[in-house]
Amino acid sequence: MEGDPEQGVTAAALRQMAETADPRLRRVMESAVRHLHDWAREVSLTPEEWLFGIRFLTAVGQGCTEARQEFILLSDVLGLSSVVNALHDDGLREAATESSLLGPFFREGALALELGDSIARHDAADLAVFGRVLDAEGNPVPHAALQVWQTGAEGLYDLQHRDLADMDLRGCFRADAEGRYHFRTVRPLGYAIPMDGPVGALVHAQGRHGMRPAHIHFLVGAPGYRELVTALYLADDPHIGSDTVFGVSDAPVVRPEAGLADSLHPGLPAIGYDFRLAPATEGETGGRVGADPSRLLAPVS
Ligand code: BEZ
Ligand code: FE
Repeated sequence: MEGDPEQGVTAAALRQMAETADPRLRRVMESAVRHLHDWAREVSLTPEEWLFGIRFLTAVGQGCTEARQEFILLSDVLGLSSVVNALHDDGLREAATESSLLGPFFREGALALELGDSIARHDAADLAVFGRVLDAEGNPVPHAALQVWQTGAEGLYDLQHRDLADMDLRGCFRADAEGRYHFRTVRPLGYAIPMDGPVGALVHAQGRHGMRPAHIHFLVGAPGYRELVTALYLADDPHIGSDTVFGVSDAPVVRPEAGLADSLHPGLPAIGYDFRLAPATEGETGGRVGADPSRLLAPVS
């Protein structure tokens, strides 16, 4: 709007940023500033609200520690992390399994296990998971690496209630020459995201429940393929339609069934799921949305 002093600020800010040497930085920041100014105008942001927001973001930063990334949690509950995942998957809809959030409970250095082993070290397995790792054309990917992690029947990851050295409900598997994998576990329970910080306060203020539906995380990779970060979500969880971090994608929603013909553990209800990997593309960066790799817990030696 010509002559509008507020719009003049936006134009002046964009003019000052126009000389940014890095073209990507210029594009991202110009758009961010335009949307930010438009948002402030749309809601008629007051000075009190501006200060409230500044204090909230300050608290989010102060809530970050070696073990906790409150800013990523904020991105998660705003749906931004899942939008970034969807953009990362763009154009791969048919070729690859959809990405889902890595989340803060992934950990490098999980134990290498044999196919068929149980990842539950403290409880008897009551669920089998099996399937194949396939390429975009449906051909097996031999010897793909799969990392698995999940909560137990009480809805906690090992990092939340066990000693660091006592890894539980996580493990690394190597698929066979036909891309087949299978393992045993316990049925995971859905859980609340960390709600004791400023992000939890926001979620409460919005009248949201803060729950994630039960799921099993997977990180699947093989040379020449794009690493897949995904999860299998249990269809019968009460929060399957209202994940507080919007990580539930269409494809990996599963239902344990008894008597599945291909299960190698016929005594257990089983989930059968084939993962599809897209080919790696030149110069692509990782798709591990949901954790800061520099802060992941070091492997236990
Ligand atoms: C998870 O799935 O582990 C997770 C993802 C986002 C926030 C909290 C937990
Ligand atoms: Fe999770």
